[in-house]
Amino acid sequence: MTSLIVGATGATGRLLVRELLGRGQRVKAVARTPSRLGDELLCDPNLAVIEGSIAEMSDRDIAQLVSGCGAAASCLGHNLTFQGVYGSPRRLVTDATRRICEALREQERDLPAKFVLMNTTGNRNRDLEEQVSFAQKSVLVLLRLLLPPHVDNEQAADYLRRKVGQEDPRLGWVAVRPDGLVDEDTVSEYSLHPSPIRSAIFDAGVTSRINVAHFMADLITDAGVWSDWQGRMPVIYNAGGKEDGST
Ligand SMILES: NC(=O)c1ccc[n+]([C@@H]2O[C@H](COP(=O)([O-])OP(=O)(O)OC[C@H]3O[C@@H](n4cnc5c(N)ncnc54)[C@H](OP(=O)(O)O)[C@@H]3O)[C@@H](O)[C@H]2O)c1
Repeated sequence: MTSLIVGATGATGRLLVRELLGRGQRVKAVARTPSRLGDELLCDPNLAVIEGSIAEMSDRDIAQLVSGCGAAASCLGHNLTFQGVYGSPRRLVTDATRRICEALREQERDLPAKFVLMNTTGNRNRDLEEQVSFAQKSVLVLLRLLLPPHVDNEQAADYLRRKVGQEDPRLGWVAVRPDGLVDEDTVSEYSLHPSPIRSAIFDAGVTSRINVAHFMADLITDAGVWSDWQGRMPVIYNAGGKEDGST
């Protein structure tokens, strides 16, 4: 299967591309600066790099991007610069999610396409009425006011929940919610949960980007993992904290 990856040059996106290629998958990666993918990935014959910004592509470009793809994944995130956080495009992740999903839904296919979004534990799954403390709610209100990327992450997942929903015959989705991201060299044990089991604000756990990439690749390549989490917003933590043992 071929998968389209946006945010492919990011710290997690690169790991997802590598993981999929390592599993013998074909990948189309969108990159503003292809060299950021690194020589090892760029030499892989199963990787096609499309140079450009997803935010600046036309609907026709995006239709071409998803052509032949059974899955797409976003590891997009706003760069942590003043321009990245407060400048345009304010709805980088939401708009990319919506436009890629719309293009995937337009394609004739035997099986529904998959869309996997890298999201955050800072976002609640309102389908499950996840409860958070008054203090955390207050901080989230502040984050919404002060940090446009937080709203972007919320709206991207809301698009999947509310506009794609659970019954689309052409498209399924998963929004993966890591906690505090860290970099590790190797995949380690991790646990998956339907909802956060600790406060993302006051008691954040740890999630390795390489574990996020591994799980996102599982969602794309493993039908059992996909059917477990389709239409849901799994939370992923590294094993070793108080979350040990539960999945
Ligand atoms: N930090 C945390 O603890 C944490 C926790 C949970 C979830 N998250 C979420 O996880 C996601 C990914 O995190 P990460 O650290 O892997 O991201 P990252 O390394 O910052 O990568 C971001 C990606 O988005 C691309 N991008 C940024 N601005 C763009 C624009 N205007 N147009 C097109 N592409 C653009 C970047 O491309 P370039 O390489 O060209 O810049 C890069 O490929 C983010 O949404 C973040 O909110 C973060």
